[in-house]
Amino acid sequence: MKVDFFDAHRYDREAFEKANSQYQFDIRYLENRLNSETVSLVRPQSVVCVFVNDHVDGKVLQALHSKNVQLVALRCAGFNNVDLKTAKQLGIHVVRVPEYSPHAVAEHALALILTLNRKTHRAYHRVRDGNFSLDGLVGFDIYGKTVGVVGTGRIGTAFAKILLGMGARVIAYDLQPSEELKQRGVLYESFANVLAQSDILSLHVPLTPQTYHMINRDTLALTKRGLMLINTGRGGLIDTKALIENLKSGHLGSAGLDVYEEEEGIFFADHSGEILADDQLARLLTFPNVLITSHQAFLTHEALANIAQTTLNSISDYAAGRPLVHALA
Ligand code: NAI
Repeated sequence: MKVDFFDAHRYDREAFEKANSQYQFDIRYLENRLNSETVSLVRPQSVVCVFVNDHVDGKVLQALHSKNVQLVALRCAGFNNVDLKTAKQLGIHVVRVPEYSPHAVAEHALALILTLNRKTHRAYHRVRDGNFSLDGLVGFDIYGKTVGVVGTGRIGTAFAKILLGMGARVIAYDLQPSEELKQRGVLYESFANVLAQSDILSLHVPLTPQTYHMINRDTLALTKRGLMLINTGRGGLIDTKALIENLKSGHLGSAGLDVYEEEEGIFFADHSGEILADDQLARLLTFPNVLITSHQAFLTHEALANIAQTTLNSISDYAAGRPLVHALA
């Protein structure tokens, strides 16, 4: 079975090569992202393996169809970058990795919170420069604070449990509340109430037409002054313009972002020798109370191994004509 693997990085390759010793697929690792221009690289009848910033739109799917590609294997959980309707119409199967390590993402959200709050990123540079002053490093106890969790699926649940363990009061908003979390003391509220009560707000919903820009000028106006906003979901959940306005006015206390709505073409690559053309991202990077990571919340050894194993298992099921357990289309 041929597999054309787009947007390949060293860490992907290491994990997939290890898992592929069991399957022996002919994997071709391509650094390019999949889009209407690079789709010509796909070999006929191969399986296409993609990640979050590959474009699997109608045009790309038509081109894949003409090459007799019948399986697109997403090596991630989110699938907002795939036109599922067209895939279905063309009879192209789409699989994903629904769960690889909710803990990896939840723990990264915690890392953003603790770093922003206790300013260890600033302290690290200070002491290395011989500056042992504590001015400007005051944080707050998370114990006793109200943490709002938006989306309590796999990742939101793992995150809520960590924060409960730290003695925070955890409130949540989800269309389908979790009985397990309710029993553990999490209170489900309306979105407006979660916004109004939270000291820290963490986003764990998928990006859909309903959740697009759910954090905007109007919803930010409902939040407490000094809110810490954490986004490890998808960049499009936040209207960046409104975020910057609220940081400038001081209404928002801090923001930890692992995702950014215009991350495509910037994140996952080294642009250190170039001029940053994105003015909004450039502005965000000037705030001392903003911490940005480049979509790395998933990046643990455990998660990478699970991603590789689940993806190759799906491809093996497809090759053997078995049902596709993680099918989206
Ligand atoms: P999940 O499907 O287990 O949970 C999503 C939850 O959101 C569900 O409980 C669902 O009921 C809720 N939800 C959906 N639409 C909603 C709406 N309109 N209003 C309120 N609640 C809504 O997903 P999981 O595994 O917890 O992942 C969440 C998201 O995290 C993914 O969709 C993905 O975008 C993002 N993610 C980010 C990663 C990173 O590296 N930064 C890695 C993995 C996932």
